[in-house]
Amino acid sequence: MKKQVLALALAALMVGSLSACGGSTAETTAAATEAATTQAETTKAEAEKEETTAGEVSTEAPGEAAGGVLTMATNAEFPPYEFHDGGEIVGIDVEIAEAIAEKLGMTLEIEDIAFDSIIPEVDSGKADIGLAGMTVSEDRLKNVDFSEPYTTASQVIIVKNESDIAGPDDLAGKYIGVQLGTTGDIYASDYEEEGSTIERYSKGFEAVQAMMQGKIDAVVIDLEPAKVFVSENEGIKILDEALTVEEYAIAVKKGNTELVEKLNGALAELKDSGELQAIIDKYISAE
Ligand code: ARG
Repeated sequence: MKKQVLALALAALMVGSLSACGGSTAETTAAATEAATTQAETTKAEAEKEETTAGEVSTEAPGEAAGGVLTMATNAEFPPYEFHDGGEIVGIDVEIAEAIAEKLGMTLEIEDIAFDSIIPEVDSGKADIGLAGMTVSEDRLKNVDFSEPYTTASQVIIVKNESDIAGPDDLAGKYIGVQLGTTGDIYASDYEEEGSTIERYSKGFEAVQAMMQGKIDAVVIDLEPAKVFVSENEGIKILDEALTVEEYAIAVKKGNTELVEKLNGALAELKDSGELQAIIDKYISAE
């Protein structure tokens, strides 16, 4: 969350300094002479101020923010759904959220947090939606409601090219890496009974790195991020046999049927217009 807040704050600061061109030189120079920590604090405080200002400005833009702010909790370690590109968080989910927010006349704000914090964040009402390549599951439905699904997905196994693991059965007794709290974690955990050890990482890519370093034998993760990680790294492959078929949907605080209905309405429009498919196609090339 900090990172994204900072990114937003920095963006707001840039906008702020553009519009206040020339006026803040003295301030900047004064700040520069201060101790590093103080300076960082000052900048952060200024950025926060600016962020508020920027937010106020955008409410004045016609058609924008009329419905307020839509806060999206995500975990931007999951390409192509949400990932960092320079200082920005981009991806399929981000574009879907932007399109929905636009339809609802709201301004989107993104919170980048640990994956296993997303449901608590939505549950507590700190975030309006959880949009993070999140699979609908019975267990999660106990804590949050979900929109209609917007895409299907699956869990796959990544191994080194020379691995002796050829399919799910071969995971028995192995070291399996997953992203903490994901469905990959849940499915891989079934293999604990068969003598496997599950290594849980805060980011999926950390699991892939650990495997490339020989610390673990396999990674269980969603197909599309798996494709990205495999295409960007030598010597690893995805096994053909998928472990599961899943659906991704938007998580909402339990009982907030009004928001679920709004989201479903917007999603239906995006599906009908072909916009949803266009967003997906922008990030995932057809096989
Ligand atoms: N689909 C999986 C799940 O729901 C993994 C999602 C991970 N998403 C992320 N943004 N890191 O558990």
